[in-house]
Amino acid sequence: MKMWSGRARLPLDPEFEQWQRSFVFDKRLLAHEIAASRAHARALTRIGVLSTTELTSLLQALDRIQLSLERDPQFLDDSEAEDVHHFLERRLVEFAGDAGLKLHAGRSRNEQIATDLRLFVRATIDEIHVHLLSFLEALAAKAQAAGDAAMPAHTHLQPAEPVLVAHWLLAYAEMLLRDHSRLSDCRARLNFCPLGSGAVAGATLPIDRDAISRDLEFTAPSANSIDATSDRDFAVEFVQSLAVLGTHLSRWAEEMIVFSTREFGWVRLPEAYSTGSSAMPQKMNPDALELIRGKSARLVGAATALLVTIKSLPLAYNKDLQETQEPVFDAAATAIESLKHAAGVMRSCEFDLARMSAAAQLGFMNAMAAATYLSRKRIPFRSAHKIVGKAVSHCLQQGCELGDLSLEQLRQFSPEFDQDFYSAITLDAVLGCHDVAGGTAPARVHSALQQIQQRISALQEALHAHA
Ligand code: ARG
Repeated sequence: MKMWSGRARLPLDPEFEQWQRSFVFDKRLLAHEIAASRAHARALTRIGVLSTTELTSLLQALDRIQLSLERDPQFLDDSEAEDVHHFLERRLVEFAGDAGLKLHAGRSRNEQIATDLRLFVRATIDEIHVHLLSFLEALAAKAQAAGDAAMPAHTHLQPAEPVLVAHWLLAYAEMLLRDHSRLSDCRARLNFCPLGSGAVAGATLPIDRDAISRDLEFTAPSANSIDATSDRDFAVEFVQSLAVLGTHLSRWAEEMIVFSTREFGWVRLPEAYSTGSSAMPQKMNPDALELIRGKSARLVGAATALLVTIKSLPLAYNKDLQETQEPVFDAAATAIESLKHAAGVMRSCEFDLARMSAAAQLGFMNAMAAATYLSRKRIPFRSAHKIVGKAVSHCLQQGCELGDLSLEQLRQFSPEFDQDFYSAITLDAVLGCHDVAGGTAPARVHSALQQIQQRISALQEALHAHA
């Protein structure tokens, strides 16, 4: 029996009936539907719509449903259920008789799905935070292990200036910490309870909305019933945050792939996350990283799908909104899996720090420091830039580096060159001269690493306090 069949005189077209169902995907909301139903049952009892005996039998039935959900994989097989709300009602009637039919008093599926989906996103954000923090911990551990080893930093994918390997890794840590905070913002903004909004105009019974909201650990009841039943901003924000996270993971994966090529040889990828080729026996392919890069597209796709679904929808609930569920589920699962495997790769990869440091000392990456040396001797930077440029061009012809030129040769480009030039352009000097907050001077990077570690532990603690 449908939840809505009273008015209809003719049955639905059987294929359409199947097609319009959402149970195949919204069954994953059952745990949240149960929690929201417990809260609604208590709210109905407070206003005398349910007796305490009925409440007890409903709560027992809900417990039984929860238990079966956890224990019996076949429990969700129900060829009649239209959606998760229908499924729950059918089980309640089965387990609690007539009381089961009373629970829908004063509520509508429109507010239920708005609530269930919020609860799902809220719980998933907590779960994603756990995975984000393990990835962050893996990054910080590798940054720590890299010590003061250097590598070339690129701009335009051309070697630009040497940086600490730790500095490079911490760049990703910053991105992921922003993802963490974006998701926290989303969590705070979504945490308002639609229950009591009814179908669109507000519940038809004097439900204590504050109590029901507290019961489900929401911050407060939502303010407007039309908005509450039609709003999916939280889903958009959630999935958009995941799309940004996906682009971070994708950029990281791309760099790891490039740096693991024979041409770079900076990263040895773990065999546990690579596969071979069925054709070329010598191959070891960076599959995990490629999939992380590839799957980020799903996250961007989900964000687009949600916006397009909602755009132009008249207020309030429309069945189109059923289409907002799958992108949320898919994006959530994709983000969690990607993060999990990213952390696995990060933990088990090996950096060839000697090779990275060697690369940091070739290719004139000290040229900017060389120009700065001259500008310290009061040569305008523009002229210093030109002088060093000419020296570099000379070196390119000779097949050597700036430090290989004799003082005599250097003085042909500018009389300001002195013996102290050589110590100003060593790797250590070049790294050390970037001595500003956020720069790559080793002392700055050490304190950045310490701060990141503190931020990660604070977030870990907050997570445990919360759980
Ligand atoms: N399965 C529906 C959804 O996901 C539940 C809400 C149905 N409401 C309605 N008025 N048909 O959106």
